[in-house]
Amino acid sequence: MKRREALHVLTSGTGVLSIGGLSAVLSSCGHDAFGPAPTAVPLIESPFERPLPVLPVHAGGPIQLVAQASSLDIRKGASSTSMSYGGSMYGPTIVVRRGEGVDAQLTNQIGADTNIHWHGLLVPAEMDGHPMHVARSGASLRYTYTLNQRACHAWYHSHVHGETGRQITMGLAGNVVVRDAEEDALRLPSGNDEFVLVLQDKRLDVSGNQRYAPSMMEVMNGYMGEVVTVNGIAGPIVTTSQGRKRLRIVNASTARVYNLGTSDGRPLTCIGTDQGLLAMAEDVQSILLAPGERVDVLLDLRNAVGGEQIYLETRTFDGVTTQGKHAARILRFDVTTNKGDMSDLPTSLALLPTLDPNTATRTRTFDISNTHGGGHGGHGGHEGGHTINGIVYAMTRSDVQAAVGGNEIWEFDNTAGAEIHPMHVHGATMRVLRRTGGRGILTAPERGIKDTVLCMPGERVRALVSFGPYAGMFLLHCHLVEHSDDGMMLNLELR
Ligand code: C2O
Ligand code: CU
Ligand code: CU
Repeated sequence: MKRREALHVLTSGTGVLSIGGLSAVLSSCGHDAFGPAPTAVPLIESPFERPLPVLPVHAGGPIQLVAQASSLDIRKGASSTSMSYGGSMYGPTIVVRRGEGVDAQLTNQIGADTNIHWHGLLVPAEMDGHPMHVARSGASLRYTYTLNQRACHAWYHSHVHGETGRQITMGLAGNVVVRDAEEDALRLPSGNDEFVLVLQDKRLDVSGNQRYAPSMMEVMNGYMGEVVTVNGIAGPIVTTSQGRKRLRIVNASTARVYNLGTSDGRPLTCIGTDQGLLAMAEDVQSILLAPGERVDVLLDLRNAVGGEQIYLETRTFDGVTTQGKHAARILRFDVTTNKGDMSDLPTSLALLPTLDPNTATRTRTFDISNTHGGGHGGHGGHEGGHTINGIVYAMTRSDVQAAVGGNEIWEFDNTAGAEIHPMHVHGATMRVLRRTGGRGILTAPERGIKDTVLCMPGERVRALVSFGPYAGMFLLHCHLVEHSDDGMMLNLELR
């Protein structure tokens, strides 16, 4: 493909021109190896024939997390190269109550640097998995902290700069479930009716092995796979009773956004988001879930009949040329004749702290449109195509200084952008105030407390950011991981 054509294809269909940035990226890279054209990667449905793997649960006491190579049948009967904490798939789900501690020992057996970031947990800076804190091959790192935050579904994953996308895709990720008394009081579906679901798209070669090798074009559009997996496998089945089910879903893909809904059009009841329960439950037909985000939904199968099959699916959506063009079913529920949790949900769920934008001591704007182009010369010869405020990430530079325990208004400005940017902050939480341009609205989960917010092309998203209790070096970055690996990340210094 010639450069001129690449430029044309990249900018067509979005109505947004970002020639400046793209030409800077293209011209300084000195080659034309852009890989596939920037169209959406089609989804291939796999036959539904295996039970959904349940990730092991770890509740209480120290835990060993051995990062290691593992092999996994992502497609039935085809063993795939993977990595995990512990040798099977992903890592155990760490269940902890508010006020309790986590004591996790990471042992690095992957033959390259690795570390663990606790996405969604407020932990001391030295425990947060900043990319400057890594375990060398063969070494260990111990993470100990006490959690004082509301019940939520957080997740943990590698955060080695430049390698995060590969390591998460290969499987270095796991879940943390925080519980508290406020949530207990709701008596939400639990035990066999509560599911932790890790969504990840995979690109597999003919023999079933995972590939992770983003081309330049894929560094821009995101690296996407054709096969959507849940808890590590394609085509999973849940055999379950009639009744209410609680689905706690994390998008662990580096780039693909899912638009989740049900195959028979029954609504999903959205009850929680990144940082826990919403104030009120809200029925929705579909939910967009961007990389890094979590959503907590109830699937109401009280009126389902024995033998019925209902799928969780991802649907098409608008807004970006390289995403949302294909639909696929991703998880099948086979309903039995047994009756499970037939209870009703209270309408009001939780008390959220009052949202008062006047508590903000300043407003900052982050230009995430990437129309500047950036510095170059990182590894792979192209790092720096993605920036925030025109700045490429540097490991030890302090970019944003803010006060421990303070509040600020942050605006993520993707008005002139052509790519999606799910923006994520460490060591802090966010309340989304408004979105202008693009979709122009807040979605149901965005009425809760967030740590990651999707900014589609043309959008400007305004949020009240509340900094956590710990001082030190945290991060602000795009969770389209090819972008953050490419430098779309800043150090946030709390003091
Ligand atoms: Cu889930 Cu800094 O990331
Ligand atoms: Cu994080
Ligand atoms: Cu991005």
